[in-house]
Amino acid sequence: MAKIGLFFGSSTGNTENAAELIQKDLQQRGLEVDLFNVMADPVSKMQEYDCLVLGIPTWDIGELQEDWKNNWDELDSLQLAGKKAALFGQGDQRGYPATFQDCLGLLGNKLRERGAMLVGFTSTDGFEFDESLGVEDGKFMGLSLDDDNQRELTEGRVAAWVEQLVAEFNLAAQAG
Ligand SMILES: Cc1cc2nc3c(=O)[nH]c(=O)nc-3n(C[C@H](O)[C@H](O)[C@H](O)COP(=O)(O)O)c2cc1C
Repeated sequence: MAKIGLFFGSSTGNTENAAELIQKDLQQRGLEVDLFNVMADPVSKMQEYDCLVLGIPTWDIGELQEDWKNNWDELDSLQLAGKKAALFGQGDQRGYPATFQDCLGLLGNKLRERGAMLVGFTSTDGFEFDESLGVEDGKFMGLSLDDDNQRELTEGRVAAWVEQLVAEFNLAAQAG
């Protein structure tokens, strides 16, 4: 069975909570998911998985979360060709409407440079913001979560996205 590697960085716990929710939902579909916090776990482990799920909040007005920042240069040495990667982000659409979810774009483009294919894009419906580097062709380059303003929507957004991922990762036949 294909294993999924789920990597996240989180400064105040919101991305970590989402990572655990996503892991639980995937496991409930019979999939194996290994969870890594990039604060301590090496990002080179990404190379061991065909399917990657990566969580990143946007911090400091369009900047990388600290632990992703500390690993940013190391990402340049990874070989990710042939892998599928799905991103999820935490952001604050009211507080930072001009840089909302910028890191979905920063990390997404970094992964593409390393050869990965991005999946799991989602609609911007239900969000209000001005600009985002995390939007491409009118869609978020992954799952957008906003626990600061819409925490009550997170569980449902995660559930719908996990269903989408199972299809886009091509894992439906293997899920038990
Ligand atoms: C100083 C500061 C700057 C922030 N900058 C942004 C930003 O530019 N864009 C955005 O979408 N969210 C921004 N946020 C909101 C965080 O992304 C949000 O609180 C997120 O849930 C934090 O995730 P974490 O708990 O996993 O670290 C900022 C928050 C703070 C406190």
